[in-house]
This record gives sequence, structure tokens and C-alpha cells, in this order.
Amino acid sequence: MGILLSLLFISLFLFLLLLFKFVTADGDFTLVSKKHVKREEIEDKVVWITGASRGIGEILAKQLAKLGAKLILSARNEAELERVKRQLTGKHAPDEVKILPLDLTSGEDSLKAAVEKAESIFPGSGVDYMIHNAAFERPKTSALDVTEDSVKATFTVNVLGTISLTRFLVPFMLKRGKGHFVVMSSAAGKTPAPGQAVYSASKYALNGYFHTLRSELFQKGIKVTVVCPGPIETSNNSGVKTSENKGSPEKRVSSERCAELTIVAASHGLKEVWISNQPVLAVMYLVQYMPTIGYWLMDKIGGNRVEAAAKKGNTYSLSLLFGKKKAA
Ligand SMILES: NC(=O)c1ccc[n+]([C@@H]2O[C@H](COP(=O)([O-])OP(=O)(O)OC[C@H]3O[C@@H](n4cnc5c(N)ncnc54)[C@H](OP(=O)(O)O)[C@@H]3O)[C@@H](O)[C@H]2O)c1
Repeated sequence: MGILLSLLFISLFLFLLLLFKFVTADGDFTLVSKKHVKREEIEDKVVWITGASRGIGEILAKQLAKLGAKLILSARNEAELERVKRQLTGKHAPDEVKILPLDLTSGEDSLKAAVEKAESIFPGSGVDYMIHNAAFERPKTSALDVTEDSVKATFTVNVLGTISLTRFLVPFMLKRGKGHFVVMSSAAGKTPAPGQAVYSASKYALNGYFHTLRSELFQKGIKVTVVCPGPIETSNNSGVKTSENKGSPEKRVSSERCAELTIVAASHGLKEVWISNQPVLAVMYLVQYMPTIGYWLMDKIGGNRVEAAAKKGNTYSLSLLFGKKKAA
């Protein structure tokens, strides 16, 4: 009896410990178990980041520069890229950091030229990591209110331009027998995202493309890390945070932590990682491992979330399950 009771207490303790770890985690279990960046996988490597002029891309640039990477920074706004460059410090920063302005909507010829430039920008070494971070996101609206123009605008940046850059870069990587794509997808690429149907569709498309690309080319040295963040706190140039700007009060993971976990994931060669606070992380687990329950839950939340977004309420709250009043 005494042994049985002890076993029961130990099991209960372990269960509570696991529950606590899960509730307080800001990434999936595999990712948070890795803890530290493998610096040797980053130092002196050429890392090309799109969307480096602000937000998560800017913070990735800062952390990668500190780890000794050689950086190529891309986005449309050259002045903002120069601002980011000036702030970088590290073994190769700021002096050796290269600015490569590009517009993902500019078409194949222009993107091909950008890839050729990136490949030759550091003499003797091509691109080791391509971080596809740039994206286009519209304010949340119902799936029915989306126009064709808005669908095209989102897909041209998030999917078409990103895939074109990849297609032009892969042959260079194959010649060297190595190359690593880090793809900033989203929790919206893993679960329904009521109010963000087109953004969600674009991120599902990215996941499909890049997991398939890896399955075709992994044996030839091409790696892919798909990163799926939930809500992340970024700030604009005036220091105004996303949650203040959008008037949405949800608890977000900081962009510093998101960048840190992204670099941990890439340096360990993880294939897909999730970065989020609760309840989004729990929903991701449910949709992945218990889809019947996960989709049932999302069907209860969906309409309320679209209304909460229209009223600038919390679009990540569990209260969305319990009716419109609390969602406002
Ligand atoms: N923030 C979040 O809560 C969150 C959550 C999940 C996933 N993500 C993903 O994480 C990534 C970064 O998010 P973020 O919030 O940091 O984004 P952000 O602040 O909106 O920045 C977007 C970046 O993309 C660049 N960009 C936009 N259109 C472009 C185009 N046509 N050509 C080239 N560059 C373009 C922008 O620079 P220019 O305007 O200078 O071109 C900017 O540097 C995105 O892929 C996003 O989907 C973010």
C-alpha cells in the first residue's frame, strides 16, 4: 500500500511538473529542450535575411551579427536597412554587412539578379542560410470580405516571390552540396486563423512547398527549418509595440525571444518549430495531434474572433469560446 501511494504521488508530481512546463513554455517541447544556439553553425556563415528592415527580421539581424554571422539584409526600404545595419555589432558588423534592397513583387528577372548578387557579395562564399522572413499581412477581416487584389498582393509576396528566390538560389547551394532555408511561417500556417483566411492560406502554402522541397533535396545537402510563431511583440521605429498599435491586448512572445528560438532551431537543424504563448500553443498541439477536437474548438471560436478583431479586442483569448460579450 505504502509503495502504491508513493508511486501515485510521484506520478502526480511528474504530471503537474509536465503541465507546468507546458503552460509556461513559449515553444514546442523539442525546441525548448535545445536551450542554446550552436554558435559554430552560425559564426562566419553567410546569412541572407529578407524583411530585415523592421520587426522580427531586424532583431534576427542583431542576434545573428552578435553570433559572428556575415549578413545580407534585404527589404524594399533601403534607408531602414541602413538604419538597421548601423546598429549591428559583431565579428563582421557593421562594416561587412551588405545591404541588398529587393521587392518580392518585382518579378522573376529582378529576383534572379538579386540571387546572383547575393551569391557573389562575399568573395569565396555563397549563401549558407536564406531566412525567408518578409511577409505581407492585412488587418483581420472575414474570409468573405477579401478582394481578389488583396489575395494577389498577399500571395505575390508571401508565396510567389519567396518561392522564386528559392528556385534561383537552390542550384548554387546544390553545387556546394549545402544550404539551409529558414522559413518564417506562422501558427496561422498550422491551424485555422479566423479573420486571416488569406494570410493563413499563404502560410499553409509555404509549409507545403518547403517541407516538400526538403524531402526532395535533403539527401543533397539542402536543409529547411519551418518556423511557426504565434503572436509576437514587435515595435515600429517610434518604439510603439504591435499590441499598442493594433489595440489588441493579448500576451505576445517578445521578438527577441522569437529570434533567439529561431536561431536555436536553425543551428540544431530542426525541421519545424512552434513559438508561442498559451493558448495558441495548446491549440496548435490539439489541431496537430487531436484534429477532431482542435477543429471543433476553432469552429466555436471563429465567428467570435472575427468580431473581436473588428472591435480591436483580444483575438487570442480563451474567452472567445464563451460568447461575444467577453470577446469584445
Ligand atoms: N509579428 C507576428 O506576430 C508574427 C506572427 C507569426 C508569424 N510572423 C511572421 O514573421 C515574419 C516577420 O513578421 P514581422 O511582424 O516582423 O513583419 P513586419 O514587421 O510587418 O515586417 C515585414 C518585413 O517584410 C518586408 N516586406 C514587406 N513587403 C515586402 C516586399 N514586397 N518585398 C520585400 N520585402 C517586403 C518589410 O520591409 P519593407 O517594407 O521595407 O519592404 C519588413 O521588413 C513574417 O513572415 C510574418 O508573417 C509574424
